[in-house]
Amino acid sequence: MKIPLEGKSILITGASSGIGEATARACTKAGMRCVITARRTKRLQTLARDLGDTCTYISGDVTAAGFNTQLLDEAGDTYAIFANAGFGLDQKMINLDQQQFRNLFNTNVFAPVELASLAAKKMAANKSGHILFCASCLSKFATPSHGAYCASKSALEAIAKSMRMELKEDAVFVSTVHPIGTRTEFFDMSATRSGKKQSDFESQTPSWLMQHPDTVANAIVRCLRRPKPEVWTSVPMRLISTSFSAFPRLSEAITTRFS
Ligand SMILES: NC(=O)c1ccc[n+]([C@@H]2O[C@H](COP(=O)([O-])OP(=O)(O)OC[C@H]3O[C@@H](n4cnc5c(N)ncnc54)[C@H](OP(=O)(O)O)[C@@H]3O)[C@@H](O)[C@H]2O)c1
Repeated sequence: MKIPLEGKSILITGASSGIGEATARACTKAGMRCVITARRTKRLQTLARDLGDTCTYISGDVTAAGFNTQLLDEAGDTYAIFANAGFGLDQKMINLDQQQFRNLFNTNVFAPVELASLAAKKMAANKSGHILFCASCLSKFATPSHGAYCASKSALEAIAKSMRMELKEDAVFVSTVHPIGTRTEFFDMSATRSGKKQSDFESQTPSWLMQHPDTVANAIVRCLRRPKPEVWTSVPMRLISTSFSAFPRLSEAITTRFS
């Protein structure tokens, strides 16, 4: 089954940079109408101007009370959502700032799940729609100093799995996206939030595990055309992360290096 995307609308959160911005560009190229959102209004304005008449923006914080409802009301008829806004933390669990931990779950889990649930009700009534959540390859395993982030992505993946089964008979697809290291502002933001000058994670990640955000964006467009449960851009990482579940000691021997 190949779904025509021309003229269909997608709402993308976290579109002021990185994977969200690249996805807005790729979806526009595929003929979709895009509604983009994030907090940095100037970035959204510039992107919307670049993408032309088929792109509109709504700025705001996905964790603000009522914002998800406002987004969906203002976005109007939406075929797909890509719940992508998120951030990382680079802190050992014993030193974790509890307020940042809560903020992380608000942004990475509660906000996307609320947005998806609100959107799913409308999609189910129309018997058509596609919800994509930005998880990570780290939804499948954990690394030291990133326990809070990995937990948020594992939670999102588990919730998406449930939603996929719940919404199947309403013809609403649910997919999770599992990027490997992607060259965006993510690592710098994560280091800054954690009081570090530079992200240790990025510098320790081998180049074969790093990719351009366009690679993720193009894979998302392919998934919108031919829906599937999980979007991966690295076959080796998909296989490695699966075997990590079966072999936890091996997993920890390897992932300990990424602290
Ligand atoms: N980069 C990687 O290696 C990697 C790997 C796996 C998964 N991911 C996931 O990919 C997604 C996108 O990250 P990225 O790599 O593209 O990083 P990024 O360039 O830092 O983008 C993050 C986006 O999220 C938005 N955002 C963050 N908090 C928000 C909030 N409270 N309200 C509204 N928007 C918010 C940011 O916009 P504003 O600051 O303008 O609000 C920005 O547009 C995240 O969920 C991340 O966990 C990234």
